[in-house]
Amino acid sequence: MQFTDLGLAEPILKALAAKNYATPTPIQQKAIPVLLQGKDLCGIAQTGTGKTAAFALPSLDHFARNPRQTPLNGCRMLVLSPTRELAAQIAQSFRDYGRFLKLSVEVVFGGVPINRQIKALSRGVDIVVATPGRLLDLLDQRAFTIKDTEIFVLDEADQMMDMGFIHPLRRIAKLLPKERQNLFFSATMPKEIEALAAQFLHDPVKVSVAPQSTTAERVRQQATFVNQAEKQALLTLTVRNEPIDRALIFTRTKHGADRVVRFLEGAGIQAVAIHGNKSQAQRTTALQAFRHGHVKLLVATDIAARGIDVSGVSHVINFEMPNVPEQYVHRIGRTARAGAEGVAISFVADDERPYLKAIERTTKVKLDVVPLPDNFMEAVRNLPKPAPPRKGKPQTPTQQAKRAEGQRRYQDQQKQPQRGAPDRAHRVEGDAPAKKPFRRRRNDVGAHKGAVQRTGGR
Ligand SMILES: Nc1ncnc2c1ncn2[C@@H]1O[C@H](COP(=O)(O)OP(=O)(O)OP(=O)(O)O)[C@@H](O)[C@H]1O
Ligand SMILES: [Mg+2]
Repeated sequence: MQFTDLGLAEPILKALAAKNYATPTPIQQKAIPVLLQGKDLCGIAQTGTGKTAAFALPSLDHFARNPRQTPLNGCRMLVLSPTRELAAQIAQSFRDYGRFLKLSVEVVFGGVPINRQIKALSRGVDIVVATPGRLLDLLDQRAFTIKDTEIFVLDEADQMMDMGFIHPLRRIAKLLPKERQNLFFSATMPKEIEALAAQFLHDPVKVSVAPQSTTAERVRQQATFVNQAEKQALLTLTVRNEPIDRALIFTRTKHGADRVVRFLEGAGIQAVAIHGNKSQAQRTTALQAFRHGHVKLLVATDIAARGIDVSGVSHVINFEMPNVPEQYVHRIGRTARAGAEGVAISFVADDERPYLKAIERTTKVKLDVVPLPDNFMEAVRNLPKPAPPRKGKPQTPTQQAKRAEGQRRYQDQQKQPQRGAPDRAHRVEGDAPAKKPFRRRRNDVGAHKGAVQRTGGR
């Protein structure tokens, strides 16, 4: 089947051809005909298989065939996403696929001034992609209305109906018109959440390409058992030894992400962090630097687990295991997208073994256990100190790269045998006195055991 067989409007086919997309993916083949009929739909397909186009293309087709004045202060289509970065990415997809249609697309999220958004929305727009918090701010201020929405989309639908979002979502749903088309998409849809979806959907068609929570095909999934205190050494070795093009490294906490970056920098390895404690400008810069390949390693909380589409991510490393199995599916889905291959490496401490079991049960995949490398204990002993937390203005990726380069050169110099000081060179090479492995604080990983928290840090 080709896109031309789906009966999509000419300007959309032209945009797809410009992107060199000829064949619809399985979820697109199944979902697009149903959506073109105006039905509600719940679509489940693995990460990286084109769910965005599956909801964007038929919606754009609807607007192409039913041109209408945009409602004042309102929109014709509302897409909700759990994170700002994903909202921006979805909006970009609409702009790309709709480039030959005269449609307006706005993205609305927190962390940036609201006034610009109010102004942009005041004339009315065709498509709004939003995170729930800022959308509610705008609705509460009566700066925007969603009463004219014709199509309502929940991307990452199970997360949007989970405890972190369900209350805002209920409030938003009350303000939508009764007559509307609802589109829910995700790679995961736990049973209890699927039941909840019935409250928002009207006689939906369920389209499922694979059983829910099926991991992306073509990801090689590995696990290494390691003490929490030694994970940093393992990460340093992994980053040095694996053929990494681009890697996303996931931690459970925001501080954990910063700590990992500092350790990597201490070892002369450049990395940037993205998490909810960073300013929006820092978040955008970090993701852009990663997207454009200026930095190879992005250390993230689950803020980057869902939906983010960066081509060329060869590795996902779970520095800490997620305590919700579905989150593992999304995290490792940042690699092996759109037919590519990838590797997912999980560092599993003793108290994370139950998480691993739950993941294997949910995904029905057994991870390959990879032993610690031969020289591991030596590497632990030589673990460089983390760089001190930075004060003052944040550095740009270029400044960070220069700093990392300087550190690497300094360390290389230290490793050169120095005339008159063989002793020193020898010591730096590997015989440094064993450092006491730092103990994990009680509040670190495992502290939230039992408190099943489905939503990541936003
Ligand atoms: N028919 C197609 N042919 C080729 N590439 C495609 C096609 N459809 C989508 N893609 C590309 O595949 C990549 C993944 O798509 P998308 O981000 O929509 O995946 P997803 O299913 O939403 O994944 P996730 O569950 O992680 O959100 C994107 O780069 C997209 O441009
Ligand atoms: Mg997606």
